[in-house]
Amino acid sequence: MSLVTRLMTFSVYLALMVSLSAPGVAAADTVAMIGTGRVASALGPQFAKLGHRIVYGSRNPGRDSVTALVARTGATASATTPSRAAAQAEIVVLATPWNVTERVVKGLGDLSGKIIIDPTNAYAPGPDGLRQLGVATSAGELIQGWAPDGHVVKAFNTLNSATMADPSSAGGPVTIPIVGDNQAAKDRVAALITGIGLEVVDLGPIRYAREVEGMLIVWMNARIMGRPFEFHLRPH
Ligand SMILES: NC(=O)c1ccc[n+]([C@@H]2O[C@H](COP(=O)([O-])OP(=O)(O)OC[C@H]3O[C@@H](n4cnc5c(N)ncnc54)[C@H](OP(=O)(O)O)[C@@H]3O)[C@@H](O)[C@H]2O)c1
Repeated sequence: MSLVTRLMTFSVYLALMVSLSAPGVAAADTVAMIGTGRVASALGPQFAKLGHRIVYGSRNPGRDSVTALVARTGATASATTPSRAAAQAEIVVLATPWNVTERVVKGLGDLSGKIIIDPTNAYAPGPDGLRQLGVATSAGELIQGWAPDGHVVKAFNTLNSATMADPSSAGGPVTIPIVGDNQAAKDRVAALITGIGLEVVDLGPIRYAREVEGMLIVWMNARIMGRPFEFHLRPH
């Protein structure tokens, strides 16, 4: 190999290493989408387009709708049980109804070191039909307690699944607030968010999950009252 060829090979290697170590840029991950409902079937295909391998965790991975979702997600996608999906993933998305999430999380096996994306909303109807938070702390903090060695990142709870599937459908930029205690985990989730065409703002540790969950409450109540909006925060 000539000196020029060797130098060119080395510079390509160097560029690859720099790009892989740049903040927010990660190599392809395996992402377990727990559930196959609206959020899972919006985010799964989106994350697949970024080059990640998606494995859906379903109570019934063989049913027709799941097979169709896997086919729509891409060639490397698959479906299995929730615990098998989580076991093979670096990132686990809890796309489950809030009232089953504790049981689901505790059935996923060892989540140590995994990034756990929490889009859940634990709301309840108030006496006037408007929504209010349905837990004393927050869904995000409860999930962190059920998986103490995982890195919970609250994200995606403040918008609807149609906007997740197609951010341009919102008619303008949409900001996703995230909170979590592990900065590296938040950086990986931020890269997913910006990768699919949404904006991100890091609002601090998981103890602020209640505030982020409150943002969904005001978003929902505005819709109920006929004054819908999307969150868009302008950096200052
Ligand atoms: N829909 C939205 O626009 C939206 C937006 C932001 C946040 N969220 C939050 O994200 C979470 C998921 O919402 P979603 O709208 O995707 O819910 P969904 O459409 O009802 O889907 C939930 C999925 O969870 C799985 N699951 C596991 N155990 C279950 C059980 N016992 N009962 C029912 N489903 C069970 C099911 O998948 P299998 O049948 O394959 O097991 C189901 O498809 C919720 O916490 C919600 O508050 C929703």
